[in-house]
Amino acid sequence: MSQDIIAKVADAVRQQLADQGAGHGFDHIERVLANARRINAEVKADPFVVDLAALLHDVGDAKFHGGKERSGELSAVILQEFNIAPEIVDEVITIVDNISFRKRNTATPLSLAGQVVQDADRLDALGAIGIVRTIEYGVSLGQPFYQPENKDAKTGVAHFHEKLFKLRALMNTAAGKRLAEEREKFMYAFLEQLAAEHAASLNA
Ligand code: NI
Repeated sequence: MSQDIIAKVADAVRQQLADQGAGHGFDHIERVLANARRINAEVKADPFVVDLAALLHDVGDAKFHGGKERSGELSAVILQEFNIAPEIVDEVITIVDNISFRKRNTATPLSLAGQVVQDADRLDALGAIGIVRTIEYGVSLGQPFYQPENKDAKTGVAHFHEKLFKLRALMNTAAGKRLAEEREKFMYAFLEQLAAEHAASLNA
């Protein structure tokens, strides 16, 4: 039963990510799964492939494997426990291997299910969640979030401009684009408010 397999794969991924912090841990996987299902309600790719790829897409994230991306390899190990058609296993591994932002110029073109999961993953970098993840990641690196007086500083806000605000244009699906647009709007409103509060503090 595919529902049964999904639940067991989810357990295996939860265990594998147990020691990874918030933002890149299983909480991220759960949000990507939910985003992917929401997008796929419109796109209608194979829901089994979408669920598996969403669950497995960061299982061997390079950040936690000494800089080497191992998600495809670890996905193969997890999936071999189950009686899944080989073409489905192959599709899931190809998606997992080619989904990352880093690979965007060299990746193998994604199947429809892969496009859904990639959009879902990118969506989790945007909106209120995207702001929280950026702040948490910056804190882990000891970087400031906002430094308007230093335009060249490596800040969370600089990361919005260098990467996050480019994601909407990279969305594969109409649903992904629409959801990205909503979340991006919220981030611009947040930046405006932040700038206004900061400016007020300088005039105090
Ligand atoms: Ni991810």
